[in-house]
Amino acid sequence: MVLYDKKGEIRYLNKLTDDIYHLGIKCPEISKRCHPGQFVMIRVSENYDPLLRRPFSILRTISEEGIIEIIFKVVGKGTKILSEKRRGDVLDVLGPLGRGFNFSDRSKNYILIGGGIGFPPLFFMIDFLKNEKKDIIFYYGAKRKEEIFFKMELQKICAKLVLTTEDGSSGEKGLISDVFSKDLDAGILESDSEVFSCGPNPMLKVISSICERCDLKLQVSLENMMACGTGLCQGCAVKIKNSKDDFEYKLVCKDGPVFDSNIILWEG
Ligand SMILES: Cc1cc2nc3c(=O)[nH]c(=O)nc-3n(C[C@H](O)[C@H](O)[C@H](O)COP(=O)(O)OP(=O)(O)OC[C@H]3O[C@@H](n4cnc5c(N)ncnc54)[C@H](O)[C@@H]3O)c2cc1C
Ligand code: FES
Repeated sequence: MVLYDKKGEIRYLNKLTDDIYHLGIKCPEISKRCHPGQFVMIRVSENYDPLLRRPFSILRTISEEGIIEIIFKVVGKGTKILSEKRRGDVLDVLGPLGRGFNFSDRSKNYILIGGGIGFPPLFFMIDFLKNEKKDIIFYYGAKRKEEIFFKMELQKICAKLVLTTEDGSSGEKGLISDVFSKDLDAGILESDSEVFSCGPNPMLKVISSICERCDLKLQVSLENMMACGTGLCQGCAVKIKNSKDDFEYKLVCKDGPVFDSNIILWEG
């Protein structure tokens, strides 16, 4: 896999909520070669404070314009600096990184489950498959209605969009994993479906146990702290079951971030 370290010009940076931003960077080499589920590492500062690049999932590419888009939430120093950038500023972007989703089994129905700011890789997947006329069911959970993004696009592309919010301001009140589980138990969903999920790790753990109970294949995109993003620092290891009833470590940045959930040794 070819990896590019490029200077990318910010084409737009839109504030979506108090602390969530939509960023478009002109980076033609990377934009042309991204696969849903992959990510980029962005250096947010020229003066090396913070020193390390920050990882972000690719939301979508606009290949004819050479643009990659991300959505990010301000949680600390790096994302705060990124949020204060302006159109025309230049960022150092490394990518595309990691292994994305495997959707080689196109005979199956696809169910996508996204939680909060973890939804961008699923949006990229839907955009990528939009010309295939696949019936995609998308379960999308957020804290509040302002944190549900691209609702109209999703409604247009997906066969069914199921929304939940924790405060009940849009869709059903509650957690998306509960509604997914309920729909499975009610027999609403095809049993021959493949599930893809992104979101906080506790949510992924719950989805994983639901899919195991119902014998559904599941791919998850994991997040972990990352220093290098390329397999050098060994800092993003996760436990993976191996054949001897034992476990080994794999790197989220290089072997993932997408894994089959049945090989992950879920902890916590
Ligand atoms: C593969 C991957 C894809 C990601 N995609 C997105 C995305 O599309 N949009 C988005 O908003 N964020 C995404 N993240 C998370 C994002 O990288 C972090 O929020 C960001 O690095 C925080 O940088 P900071 O300097 O602002 O915060 P810091 O000051 O470094 O940390 C602030 C707080 O956030 C926590 N934190 C930082 N990084 C992570 C992480 N990787 N996982 C869990 N907690 C973390 C820290 O423990 C700390 O509590 C992704 C992370 C990974 C590994
Ligand atoms: S972040 Fe360095 S090995 Fe994964």
